[in-house]
Amino acid sequence: MGRNATNLVYLVTIVTFIWALRDLSNPAHARRGVWIGAAGMVVAIAATFAQSGMHDYGWIALAIVIGGAFGAIAARRVKMTAMPQMVALFNGVGGGAAALVSWAEFHREAPLPGNLHGDISVAIILSALIGAISFAGSMVAFAKLQELVSGRPITYPGQQVVNALLFAGVAAAGIAIVAGAERQWLIWVLLGGAAVFGILFVLPIGGADMPVVISLLNAFTGLAAAATGFELENNVLIVSGMLVGASGTLLTLMMGRAMNRSIANVLFGAFGQVTPAGPAAVAGADGGAVRSATAEDVAVMLAYANKVSIVPGYGMAVAQAQHDVRALADLLEERGVDVSYAIHPVAGRMPGHMNVLLAEANVPYPQLKEMDDANPEFARTDVALVIGANDVVNPDARSNQGSPIYGMPILNVDDSAAVVVLKRSMNPGFAGIDNPLFLNPKTVMLFGDAKESILKLVHDVKAL
Ligand code: TAP
Repeated sequence: MGRNATNLVYLVTIVTFIWALRDLSNPAHARRGVWIGAAGMVVAIAATFAQSGMHDYGWIALAIVIGGAFGAIAARRVKMTAMPQMVALFNGVGGGAAALVSWAEFHREAPLPGNLHGDISVAIILSALIGAISFAGSMVAFAKLQELVSGRPITYPGQQVVNALLFAGVAAAGIAIVAGAERQWLIWVLLGGAAVFGILFVLPIGGADMPVVISLLNAFTGLAAAATGFELENNVLIVSGMLVGASGTLLTLMMGRAMNRSIANVLFGAFGQVTPAGPAAVAGADGGAVRSATAEDVAVMLAYANKVSIVPGYGMAVAQAQHDVRALADLLEERGVDVSYAIHPVAGRMPGHMNVLLAEANVPYPQLKEMDDANPEFARTDVALVIGANDVVNPDARSNQGSPIYGMPILNVDDSAAVVVLKRSMNPGFAGIDNPLFLNPKTVMLFGDAKESILKLVHDVKAL
């Protein structure tokens, strides 16, 4: 296939990628988006194969079969709660692939010093540098999430100076290559140094901040792929790399905003250093007391309400209670209760965590309300049923200027007539702080594992 024909096919596939991203922004179309993007990718790969000048088809096919089989098996087997580490792993190998292509291109283009053209050398250096950082950083993120290494921030004095010096050394090797010192050992220094930097850069970041880091590294991988596209003069790689870079950057910024934390705080703040899992508090500073309810009491509250808002959080994911939550909601709806779900953008531990779980339980999309739509409805809600959520409903974020989460937008469940909180203890959530919602006179606590509590509620509502 000639160059013009290939570029025309590439243009069509680029449109499918943009269309896929658009569809992915809404749970109602997300599956279709995945299929459209995948179909576009298959066409792009076929067009690349059909280009004139291609050879070694056998080796390429073997690599595709091995990689494709690994990806398909891993994707089918992974549990929803392990999804962040799988994304880290897959993102890392993308960055690693970009770095390897750059290394091969350097090897091919610069057998003798002076052979490498300036513009290509910049692309080679950028994709080697960013790709190696993304590969090594993603592997550390994977290891932290898989608990192969400690999830706690690993810090030591002068860490940021060491990191800055290392990065400066790696950048100097890159500049030397672009300036004409095309020695093979310089590319080794660059690749090795960038990989060590990637490791040292992620080590001081707490395990719970890994989703933000992975999203940032995902943007890096996109940029590395785009630079590789310039090296190989491949337009679809340039555009799709930039799409990944831009969407990864936007997602990182949105996660930071929803947590009310700057990206600098996530990357350099060693957040999660101290996570006090204090003993159960039974009385607040203002003397408010925690009121514990039984499943029978809560079943009555829910069954005789007009409107119930379900607020899922990380605890629902841990308990894998989504299917039983759906069964409870169905039961309430049969009794004429208006049920909806209020979804906070950073509830859980990864972007879209609650949407994915609830979609798995086939919760109808119109019942899912995003934070801005859900908040005005709490004033008309009889019972807000908070299932394993904590930080995302903490009123200190609104009113306590001294709180670490002050300014974070939250779900205003305390505007409802009554609040029921399902969790196992008075232990804090991700941010490691107390939650005055639990002492609010409107609130009752139903202690226990979320799945067990929901099963009891289903049983007790049926019995009414
Ligand atoms: P959290 O504030 O982390 O609270 C989760 C609560 O679930 C805990 O207080 C825990 O209390 C309870 N829980 C755990 N296992 C349970 C089980 N089996 N049954 C019942 N309850 C259980 O969760 P959230 O409100 O969803 O907030 C998310 C937090 O993660 C925010 O601080 C956010 O900034 C942060 N974060 C989110 C993301 C993304 S992208 N979603 C990324 C990084 C960080 P007990 O131990 O007492 O049961």
